[in-house]
Amino acid sequence: MEITPEQTQIGKDNFNEAVGSPLTRRDLMKAAAAASVGLGAMYFNYEKLNGSPVKAAFIGCGDEANVLMTEHPMDYMELVAIADPRKANIDDTFKGTHPEARIGLIKKLTQEKAAKVQVFSSHLELLQARADGKVDFEMVVIAVPLSQHAPIALACLDAGLHVLTEKLMAHNITECKQMIRKAEEKGLLLAVGHQRHYSVLYDNANDLIKKGLLGDIKFIRAQWHRNNSFPDRDSWRKWESISDAEKKDLLELEKSGKLKELGYDSAQQLVDWRLYNKTGGGLMAELGSHQMDASSIFLGKKHPLAVQGYGGKNFYGMEGVGPKDKWDDDRDIDDQIFVTLEFPGKTYEKNKNDIAVVTYSSISTNRQEFYGETVFGSRGTLIMKEEKEALLYKEQSPASGGGLDQRLWVIDNAKGGGPALDSYNTAAPTAAGAMAQAGMGDKVSRGYKEEMEHFCYCVSNKLGPETLRCNGRVAMADAIMALTANLAMKHKKRIVFKDEWFDPASDAVPETDEQVKV
Ligand SMILES: NC(=O)c1ccc[n+]([C@@H]2O[C@H](COP(=O)([O-])OP(=O)(O)OC[C@H]3O[C@@H](n4cnc5c(N)ncnc54)[C@H](O)[C@@H]3O)[C@@H](O)[C@H]2O)c1
Repeated sequence: MEITPEQTQIGKDNFNEAVGSPLTRRDLMKAAAAASVGLGAMYFNYEKLNGSPVKAAFIGCGDEANVLMTEHPMDYMELVAIADPRKANIDDTFKGTHPEARIGLIKKLTQEKAAKVQVFSSHLELLQARADGKVDFEMVVIAVPLSQHAPIALACLDAGLHVLTEKLMAHNITECKQMIRKAEEKGLLLAVGHQRHYSVLYDNANDLIKKGLLGDIKFIRAQWHRNNSFPDRDSWRKWESISDAEKKDLLELEKSGKLKELGYDSAQQLVDWRLYNKTGGGLMAELGSHQMDASSIFLGKKHPLAVQGYGGKNFYGMEGVGPKDKWDDDRDIDDQIFVTLEFPGKTYEKNKNDIAVVTYSSISTNRQEFYGETVFGSRGTLIMKEEKEALLYKEQSPASGGGLDQRLWVIDNAKGGGPALDSYNTAAPTAAGAMAQAGMGDKVSRGYKEEMEHFCYCVSNKLGPETLRCNGRVAMADAIMALTANLAMKHKKRIVFKDEWFDPASDAVPETDEQVKV
């Protein structure tokens, strides 16, 4: 969909207008000013901590951990230790690698406080040091390659630690169930970092959907397209670009057998983990899972009915295709995937034709389109753009206008009841729209900070797993969608989801299901 900068601005103004309208405005807007608890706390219903910040250790100090450490809320979390076998990543964690996104612990905490953060060479060394009383913390944040999420989370739960792990929850659904059961057995919290559960932008968008402004949703199109076809853009193959000194370090670790102990066959596999089935889950796990998560939130958090798709290694590793340096590429994962999921509509129980379809594509050779989700409703269209912008448009009608150039406001829909979108004849935002925009802040948070704040709040107040917005059960549903989509592409078939897969108490899982294998 081609949208001009002017139309983008109109879409954003429309969204703000709808969020701020007295007819749709949420009570929490008032609470904000009164309570001054912070945007996340106001939206997601938590407060400032009464006691001390929760002591935490980070396991994994790569790109994502550094984003999280930059965002970590110091009123809620005290970072006491970090662990990573890659010395260069530990160095970068202190110094920072990006002026805003990954600022480094020295800048975040001050030199003096950063010097007190204890450093370990792996989760094993970290947990041993805690068992020996050399370091003390009650929660971990895990940001390591996918294959290690479950083994490390289980070891941490066994050690009595609360776990906030990065997405995808685990490498397979058996592991997800083990994690949920272990957390329950130990009475510990387990959450997964699908940050859209803590994005104010997504929460507001979802609220408008729930209030019916988009009408009946029959289709969501999600995509995350990249161009990794140029040598300097192969963002998942990193071994070639690390320094010779780091290569030497890692090859020594490989030789010592330490990497095997941590679950990696080689130093290169540790660095390029996203490319291999043993360590990663491909485009669906890394990118698509976020957007399946968003789509299912918009569709009322219902479980999907079925999935089918095509995935292929259609660019890398083929003589004559793409640049010569890609011809001998050894990755396992597909470089383009196209998936269709069927979700039950609101009346599905009564009417089996009430289906909403979600399509997802992720490709590696073109990035013309932004990443995000477009929600197509019978009354309007909502575009979520790169987790930063939400654009709202009304369906065109001869009587009341609409389309990409139309400014909107919310009216009371006398005919159908409830709020509805209507054309608005001035371009300027109303006070309500301006207030909504101001309320969301200058820089839209992607939700990382809020996700960590809320987790610490739940730990500190000894709250149960149901309080977490992306707890084990919710995250397992995301993993089931992503990993069953992978199975559908691998076996080239339409797979029907089974209720028991979503039940942590049942041993049934898609990866061993008869319909999948046959
Ligand atoms: N929520 C998001 O938007 C988002 C974005 C990017 C990545 N992620 C997730 O974050 C995780 C990490 O991704 P990344 O991009 O940071 O990868 P990365 O390769 O940059 O970092 C992973 C780090 O984990 C370390 N590690 C591996 N095994 C370890 C162990 N046993 N103990 C301690 N450290 C260990 C590695 O040495 C490496 O430094 C992945 O699960 C990924 O899917 C989430």
